[in-house]
Amino acid sequence: MCLGLVPGILAGPRSRDCVTANADSPTDPVVIAIDGPAASGKSSTAHWVASVLGYRHVDSGALYRAATAATLRSSPSADSWTEGAVLESAANVTLSPRDTSFAPCIDGRDVEAEIRGAEVTQHVSRVAQMPRVRAWVNNLVRDAATRHDVVVDGRDMGTAVFPNATLKVFLIADPWERARRRLTQQMKRRPTDTEIAEETDRIVQRDANDATQTVQAKDAVLIDTTYLTQPEQVDRIVALARAVTHRGSEASSVDDPESR
Ligand code: CDP
Repeated sequence: MCLGLVPGILAGPRSRDCVTANADSPTDPVVIAIDGPAASGKSSTAHWVASVLGYRHVDSGALYRAATAATLRSSPSADSWTEGAVLESAANVTLSPRDTSFAPCIDGRDVEAEIRGAEVTQHVSRVAQMPRVRAWVNNLVRDAATRHDVVVDGRDMGTAVFPNATLKVFLIADPWERARRRLTQQMKRRPTDTEIAEETDRIVQRDANDATQTVQAKDAVLIDTTYLTQPEQVDRIVALARAVTHRGSEASSVDDPESR
């Protein structure tokens, strides 16, 4: 059951310099924006970074997925979807604070398994093209960031949503490697080369569908994770975050298994 529902209230633009400084006020919430293409490891990395730093993770893609799942529930035939119908279904989606994250709920219930399913993945890019759906997601994400230090991840967090984020990171990786990781995570076994090749095709197609909104900010730090382990990439982002926020390592360390 989801508790403590957060309404989508539009917050004003932030007035923080990127990368170079902490904030106008030391009490302003910190925003670390992690963007990148499909299956580049944004969400798992963002979640881990948030745990290490003691921030909250907000996964904007999960909100697009939840809006898609809610629409599928009321209208299984995606051909008939209009922006209005998607927004009506999205009204049942809320963002609920957890220990170290915010999670989307539909009708107050946890939907993690449902939003990661193949059907949602197949239709989510189309939903994400709808301007009013994008505005709805952006409002929820900004609202979450008014009260907490956050690590947000998606496609346009460092550009459209938080142009003044404290730190911006853009994660990329070779499509084959992204497919291999995504399948290993889903199947909990080693995928075959044929399976990886099929998943690579789907990922490349989703990259094309999401190309308009997948934008690397000019001031983002680009990290190619193809040959990095996950602890290595988390370590790099945590180090960057500590450098720009001038906050030390009082929270847990990257190697802390509790942080994963
Ligand atoms: O599968 P992956 O983790 O890469 O994607 P996701 O982060 O769960 O996002 C699912 C979909 O939401 C993407 O394929 C995009 O269509 C859309 N999205 C977006 O348009 N803008 C964002 N900031 C985040 C996600």
